[in-house]
Amino acid sequence: MYLGLDLGTSGVKALLIDDAQRIVGSTNAPVSLSRLHPGWSEQDPAEWVSATEAAMAALKAAHPQELAAVRGIGLSGHMHGATLIGADDAVLRPCIMWNDTRSHKEAAELDANPAFRRISGNIVFPGFTAPKLAWVARNEPEIFAQVKKVLLPKDYLRLWLTGEHLSEMSDSAGTSWLDTAGRKWSAELLAATGLDESHMPGLVEGTQAAGTLKPALAARWGMAPGVVIAGGAGDNAASACGMGTVAEGRAFVSLGTSGVLFAANASYLPKPESAVHTFCHALPDTWHQMGVILSATDALNWYSGVTGQTASALTAELGDSLKAPSSVTFLPYLAGERTPLNDAAIRGAFIGLGHESSRAVLTQAVLEGVAFALRDNLEALRSAGTELSRVTAIGGGSRSRYWLAAMSTALGLPIDVPQDGDFGAAFGAARLGLVAATGADPLAVFTPPETEETIDPDPAHGDAYAAAYERYRALYPALKTLSH
Ligand code: XUL
Repeated sequence: MYLGLDLGTSGVKALLIDDAQRIVGSTNAPVSLSRLHPGWSEQDPAEWVSATEAAMAALKAAHPQELAAVRGIGLSGHMHGATLIGADDAVLRPCIMWNDTRSHKEAAELDANPAFRRISGNIVFPGFTAPKLAWVARNEPEIFAQVKKVLLPKDYLRLWLTGEHLSEMSDSAGTSWLDTAGRKWSAELLAATGLDESHMPGLVEGTQAAGTLKPALAARWGMAPGVVIAGGAGDNAASACGMGTVAEGRAFVSLGTSGVLFAANASYLPKPESAVHTFCHALPDTWHQMGVILSATDALNWYSGVTGQTASALTAELGDSLKAPSSVTFLPYLAGERTPLNDAAIRGAFIGLGHESSRAVLTQAVLEGVAFALRDNLEALRSAGTELSRVTAIGGGSRSRYWLAAMSTALGLPIDVPQDGDFGAAFGAARLGLVAATGADPLAVFTPPETEETIDPDPAHGDAYAAAYERYRALYPALKTLSH
């Protein structure tokens, strides 16, 4: 048995697999997010711990014997968050999250230093970790002075689980402090934010062991002492391990809180000016590229809050068969945007409203807007040398057939829908736990799921979608003149 623990933006998931990688059970516990000011997004690490406790208690209640047989645990989590640790491993302030853009000024300042793009291979985005520390140094100097360690969210959970300060390559590549080609911390980049390697956790590969479960927790959950905890991965690389997106040519589109177009690469292919993220993968000697939009299901959830309808009721209203694109265009920049815009100040819009713009018309516009934003990401990946021929769909939003049909037509790519199952980040984390505990060959473990169905671009709407995408692209420059 192996356990995956995924710290997602909306909650913690605990998922058990057996030695044949069959899912035995899973539990979830919610985590809240606070938005104190526009552009801010924070979580309280104490809630990550209490949610993990709740998810584990529920798992123990449902599967006590299986939990007792667990040999390895893998961790996955939302990326880039700055968890600031002081003396005695105390948390100094709420974690500043991946979709928090308050540090856009500091990000631009760091990005102007050519060493960052040269060594980290990426733009210094406001959502990344380094500019958040620069913001804290400038705005909360008394906190900055107490920082002993900076941990990524899942690595804070590891600290609680094992007592160790450790991380791995895939998540660390999203800090702006990693030498992404050399897979090691960069003293030069750390120094540029007033830090040094003593502030960083030790590094392993995602497939290697990184700590063992504390005896007190093992006893509480009825687990054996000495269970190995794998390095694990940032949630996108962990999902890739779950989906078998590990060899060149494989790719997925994730419709989660964020939207991600993820491609595995056999070598390190940085192209920072495209705003594509180039990070280490969770396997040794492997890298990946991805385009990231900040609001995918977050956009639909926002519209659901505004209309008072659940997201599934909204998408059900559209039916399953694709319609011509909506006359209304939605730009999903509710929290600014990463790929390809790198614009923290831009905000979303509905354009083209008329008396006929019903709730359903606007739902359709929201789904299409997210699909067009991911089409922008496909173009960015293309400019970074990665051509995709098909993608596999994951994430909560991929339960909507309408959204997948719109996505396939907007991207001009077939979308494979995996057979029923849960092949996301928690599953990938459990697989990483398996590899770390047994030494199995990762490529033999990280296999793709069976495809249940393939959704092809709809030729009847291809031209209309191409025209709608051009309208979408033309709107950002216009909107930008208003928002700055
Ligand atoms: C990736 C990113 C998001 C979070 C969401 O760069 O910021 O996908 O990892 O969990």
